[in-house]
Amino acid sequence: MTDLYRSGPLRGSVTVPGDKSITHRAVILGSLSEGVTEIIGYLPGADCLSTADCFRRMGVEIETAGEIMLVTGRGLRGLRPDPRFMENGLLSLDTGNSGTTTRIISGVLAAQPFSCVLSGDESLNSRPMRRVMQPLRLMGAGITSILDNDCAPLRIEGRPLHGIDYRSPVASAQVKSAILMAGLYADGRTSVTEPSLSRDHTERMLQAFGASVDTVDTSDGVKISTGPCDRLYGQSVRIPGDISSAAFLIAAASITPGSEILIRNVGINPTRAGILQAAGAMGADIRILGDGQNAPEPRADLLVRSAPLHGTVIEGRMIPTLIDELPVIAVMAACAEGTTVIRDAAELRVKESDRIAVITENLRTMGVDVTPAPDGMVIEGLGGAPLRGGQIHTHGDHRIAMSFAVASLAADSPVKLDDESCVAVSWPSFFRGLRSLLT
Ligand code: S3P
Repeated sequence: MTDLYRSGPLRGSVTVPGDKSITHRAVILGSLSEGVTEIIGYLPGADCLSTADCFRRMGVEIETAGEIMLVTGRGLRGLRPDPRFMENGLLSLDTGNSGTTTRIISGVLAAQPFSCVLSGDESLNSRPMRRVMQPLRLMGAGITSILDNDCAPLRIEGRPLHGIDYRSPVASAQVKSAILMAGLYADGRTSVTEPSLSRDHTERMLQAFGASVDTVDTSDGVKISTGPCDRLYGQSVRIPGDISSAAFLIAAASITPGSEILIRNVGINPTRAGILQAAGAMGADIRILGDGQNAPEPRADLLVRSAPLHGTVIEGRMIPTLIDELPVIAVMAACAEGTTVIRDAAELRVKESDRIAVITENLRTMGVDVTPAPDGMVIEGLGGAPLRGGQIHTHGDHRIAMSFAVASLAADSPVKLDDESCVAVSWPSFFRGLRSLLT
């Protein structure tokens, strides 16, 4: 991928792959439902396939045909370990690179009548799991870190659970979702209060599948609660395009003069769409076409034209709405005029890589002045002057690879990524998609 520098402009219309977060949840809830769930436009990325593989190992039949995934649910209490994946009496589940799979299904596994070990790749096995272990233990779960380092591999012994009223220190949809999933099986009500609302796909989808979920603002933050559930019902779920993938094209078109692209059918759930506000605050020219009123997940077409960008401040409640987009926002900031400050984003340090360190390292390679902080960074934009080419270290992180592929469009010499294959986690055909727009 050394050929993208000085290419463009971007022109034409595209769709991006299905939303990763929503696909995970559709596979999980479909597996736990009565009847068949049809997932239209599912993301065939490695992370979502890890979720499907875990449920296959628990006896769920999952088939794919074209853009449709069909999940034949086994009901909330019908999961059974496939004997082929039993080791020493424990079901072995491989969650690959996927933090979402690991954390959310921990909440399901904690309540099953069998025990398992959850493990993933090197990056996954170094990410913090205490944030789910602690609340699940409070619910009565038998969940331990096998190496006693609060990371996967996790050993989970299914047990009867009871409801809790939990205050989460982080605004994390994975933590919230793990607790709500466990809450479906618990005695009594379960609630989780997060400091600010993280993506609410689980709440929306649980309701669509027949569970009751309440969300209320409190003086401590946003409180989401659910109660024990008898059954969920299979549904037809249409997955919108992933705004986290669209973000790479929004950035690419914004920084490449003369660009005009239409990205069709993008999910614009307000708990996910912070990139639209942040890019707008930087001067990006993005128009939302359509009313975005589709239930349960709003979607719209996005018309993006190149525009001169300027620095901004990204902080506070906005952070959870664009946490996965911060690497590519940092690239936009590098191309902008003036200074961009990102703060309150310490979570970036525990994503697929330490994204604060990795963005800093790679933007510096490209000639940008970046000052990292424990919870963010300060980026001095080059104001439209070209970035420098060079060798990019992706650390196997899909969003770093795609962000720096976008950065290469603004470079004056070749940019080489040490690993392009990692994009398969969330957008296997990313390079083809990007190239299809380059004129
Ligand atoms: C996700 C939640 C976010 C996000 C991740 C997907 C989800 O993580 O970064 O890519 O689908 O629930 P946290 O819950 O750790 O914030």
